[in-house]
This record gives sequence, C-alpha cells and structure tokens, in this order.
Amino acid sequence: MCGIIARIGHGNATETLLSGLENLEYRGYDSAGIAVQNGSGVKVHKCSGEVSSLKSTLDGRPSGNMGIGHTRWSTHGPPTDENAHPHTDTAGDVAVVHNGVIDNYTELKADLREKGHEFESDTDTEVIPHLIDEFRSETGDTELAVRRAVDTLEGSYAIAAIVDGEEAVYAARKGSPLVLGLDEEEWFLASDVPAFLDHTDDVIYLEDGDIVVLEPDSYRITDLAGEPIERPVDTVDWDPEDAGKGEYDHYMRKEINTQPTALANTIEGRIENGDVAFERLPPGSFEGIDTVQFVACGTSYHAAMYGGQLVREAGLPTEVLRASEYESTSGPVDENTLVVAVTQSGETADTLDAVRKATDRGARSLAVTNVVGSTAAREADDAVYIRAGPEVGVAATKTYSSQAVTLALLSQRIAGDVPEATPVEDRAAMLEALEDLPRHVETVLEASEADALARDTVDSESFFFIGNGLGRSVALEGALKFKEITYEHAEGFAAGELKHGPLALVTEETPVFAVATGGVDDKTKTNAIEAQARGAPIVAVGPEDHPLVDVADEHLSVPETHPVWTGLLANVQLQLLSYHAADQLDRPIDKPRNLAKSVTVE
Ligand code: F6R
Repeated sequence: MCGIIARIGHGNATETLLSGLENLEYRGYDSAGIAVQNGSGVKVHKCSGEVSSLKSTLDGRPSGNMGIGHTRWSTHGPPTDENAHPHTDTAGDVAVVHNGVIDNYTELKADLREKGHEFESDTDTEVIPHLIDEFRSETGDTELAVRRAVDTLEGSYAIAAIVDGEEAVYAARKGSPLVLGLDEEEWFLASDVPAFLDHTDDVIYLEDGDIVVLEPDSYRITDLAGEPIERPVDTVDWDPEDAGKGEYDHYMRKEINTQPTALANTIEGRIENGDVAFERLPPGSFEGIDTVQFVACGTSYHAAMYGGQLVREAGLPTEVLRASEYESTSGPVDENTLVVAVTQSGETADTLDAVRKATDRGARSLAVTNVVGSTAAREADDAVYIRAGPEVGVAATKTYSSQAVTLALLSQRIAGDVPEATPVEDRAAMLEALEDLPRHVETVLEASEADALARDTVDSESFFFIGNGLGRSVALEGALKFKEITYEHAEGFAAGELKHGPLALVTEETPVFAVATGGVDDKTKTNAIEAQARGAPIVAVGPEDHPLVDVADEHLSVPETHPVWTGLLANVQLQLLSYHAADQLDRPIDKPRNLAKSVTVE
C-alpha cells in the first residue's frame, strides 16, 4: 500500500508533491512526508497523520525543483513521525520513498549496522537509502548503486530516491505500481495517475525490473543490467475533474451520485443488435472454456458473486473464490478454466497472487478492472475495463455497480460462446432493461429516503442485511459498506442462514435490511418475518409491489426493472444509508480508520 510521488522540472516541486499526495491518500493516510533538493542538501519534512497535517507543519513551502513524497499505510512499525517516509541514510544525503514490503530487511539491516550504518525507524524501507549509500561509496556511481541496491532487495517495491547535489530522481519497481508522467517541462513518477493528472495525461506504465532516471530535460528507462528499455507512451482518458470532489462534501457522496454516468460509460457500445459486444473479445473468444473461476476481495468479491451467479445459471461450473483463500478453496484448474480477476484497482496483492497461481496451472486469465495499465490488466491474458472513472473514496461504490454490470454482460458473452451454456432466457429484455439502469439509478438518488431512515436507526445495536440469490451479494455488500464507514456492527447473511445461528442476536435493536430483487427471494421474505417475530424492525429494500414490502416496517423503494438489475438499485439505497449513517456519526467517510483503498500487501 502507500502512495509515492516524485517530480523533477523547472520551478518549485513542493506544491505539486503535496497536491499529488492528496490525490494518493486513498492508498494510505497514516503519515506523510516529502523531501526536496534546494541546493543546500536534501531537506526532509514528515510527520504522522494525513497530508493536511504535513502541510500545517511546513513553515512556508520548502523550495527545490525536484522532490519525492509519500503517504503511508503502515506495515512495519506504527504511524509515528520516525516511521514516516522519506527515509534517509545516516548522513542524510540519500532520501527514499517506498511502496511495498522488503522481506529481507532484517538481514540487510544487520549487515548494514555492522558496516556502521545507523537506523532511526522500525520500517523495512530504511534499509534502501542505506544500501544506495553503501553502493555509492563502493562505486562512485549513483545509478549503478540504485541498480545494485534493488537487486539486493527481496519483496515488492516501487521506490523513488533523490541524492544530495544531484539533479536527478532515481526510481525502480518490482511488484508495486509505478507510472511515469510526461509533461512538456516536468516529469513525474507516482503510484497512480491521479497524482499528476492535473499536469499531464501522457504516461508510461513501468514494468517490474524497470529502473528509471529522471533528469530535468531527459528521462531514461533501463533494466537491472543497465540496458536501455523502450516503453510505449499511453494517453489516459480520465478528466482531472473526475479525480476531484467537485461540489460534494465527500468523494464517496460524489461517487454514489455519479453512478448514472459511470454506468452509462460501462454500458456504452457493449450492447449491439441484442447481443453483448466487448472490445477485443469478439464472439467466440471464450470457446473451449468449461469452468469459470472468479477471484476477488471485499467489495469486488461481492460483485464477483453477482456475475458468478449468472454464469452458473447459464449452466457452466462456476466458483467464486475469495482471493486470499485461493489455495485452500480452488477446485481443479486446467487450460479450459477461465479465471476472472475482479479488481477495481488492478493492484490487490491477494487477487494478483490467486490469478498467478491459477495461470501457473494452465488457466486462461481475464482481468475485470477499472484501472487501465494496472498490474492485473497487464498480467492477464485479456482485460475488460469497467470504465467507472477514478474512485477516490476508500469505500468502493460506483465500481461495485460497474463491476456487477460488466460481469453480468460477461456472463452472457461466455454463455453465447460456450455450446454447453445457455444465455438468460429473456436476454433481449434483460439487455434492453440495462440501457435504462442509469436512469433508474438517477430516480433512486433523487427520491431516496435513506437519510431519514439512517437518522432513525443509527443508534441501534447491530445492523443486519439479508438477501438470497442475487440479493445475497447486495446484502453482503450493504453490510461491508455499513461497518466500513460507520464503525457500527453490521453483518450480511444469506437470508436462509439467519435461523441457523445469527437469529440469536436479533432483538428490537437489530434492524434487518432485506434486499428484494424480484428474482428468487422467497427465503428473504420468510426469514425477515422470522426476525420480525423476534422484535427486529424490517426494512424492505426493493420495488414497490414486492411481497416483502407488505410485511416490512419500513421501505427503501427502487424502480421496477428486470430482476437481474433490481439488486443493483437496492445497493444504491444501501450505499446512501451507510453514507448518511456515517455522516450522522461524524465519521471520516472517505478515509475510514485502518483502511486503504489499494491493498498491495497480502
Ligand atoms: C470496500 C473496498 C474493499 C475492496 C477490496 C478489493 O469498500 O473497497 O473491500 O473492494 O480491497 O479491492 P480491489 O477491487 O481494488 O481489488
């Protein structure tokens, strides 16, 4: 996890580094720091807390035309000032920021200590500037020293370094994302594009093993042996506006409210003549596939459940696996298995690891992701983009909706390609209804009464979310969102499971949100009634004329549509419920404690 940034060019780097770090805070916000070169040595400024704390500790704006910055999600050592990045060597000549985990840092630290190096932090990162310093003393050549240093590291890293008296930024990546941004008069390096999107949309996605040297008027990429490497320049099509908060108090609110646009983008051009059309995956692309495995974490796992159910209903053996449990839960895999990695960021370590394990065994891989050029997209055999636009709020909202829609479309593409599978019986109606989904989301956003309901229920002891069929994915997602941003106890259940244990927890202090999709949700109704009989207030989340609404105490209404899409509308109501409850409780909605958006550690 963590976000890193570097900038070199003319004029002062500090402002750019700080605003870039703010755009990377979704990756971690335990502590922040920058180092700049100002002609009188490398100056490091860092502290625990968010980038705003760092800004308030800066006396004016440290000057220097080049610098590096970091926003941290702690792995080694608590979020203290000492553990904040950048870290330096003993003399303070080499400053480094790092995203990743160095597995052999204990051994390296012991060796370096014997050579006289002194350490100040508990971090794994601190060995890196010391190593660079050590190899610089041996070789007198910083670029060579950086290559040697990273060659010594085991684990994952994206690093950027500056060195006293040198007009250069040195960087390297292995296993953690790093993107090079190219403007006319300045170069950037960052963990993700939004860090420098205000300046340029021309990027080079660096690969594992790349070493980069940025100088004011040139840049070069080499491999570990120092051989030059050419990488293509891509243009990202995200608008800088997309990455900001706009008129909203929170990114999460903005991202919930912009779902109609996100969904319209997800769908655009993907329904042609009553069939599903995926760019670069023409009809026939999935011929020969006899099993589908979805691997994902958190919210993406819930979206995978949604898509997985539709592939299973099409008649293909399907597994939806938590990526972190892949080894112990995966069935047999061979070249006829399609492993679908569902990952908004495309960088989740558990998901990448599961896909690598599946492909090592011969499976074919497909990444379903929001981030063009992400590791998942680059490593998989094929990639489908969900086109939701940048999501900054740590709690995923619009990307769940766009993922679920993309996976539903994928299920029909696969079903069309595989002779043993059958597409949904009323596929034309389902696809037609999809074109209305953005409009229906708009209706939910305009008419939702989730705010009032959140106010009425926020003091409850526990919050339960139930559903069956496609509604189960929505119930689990509703509970995850609720606990993540309100810090209140919330659980999601397959409705039928309630009576097998959790019912013991149900009291009049346990509102039960029951998701009605209009598909198979008989069990949701019967189990909701059972919970109600034990005193629980029932909130039906679904269309007006659903039988669940007749028995419920409260109702969050969604427009009538095809049952494949109703759950996604119910999910928007639950997103709003979580948002308003968290707002009532005055929680830091965009940055829930202990979490980060992109989880690049296992
Ligand atoms: C919850 C949330 C997380 C992510 C999970 C996977 O709101 O955002 O549960 O869904 O960390 O992340 P990606 O989709 O980037 O693989």
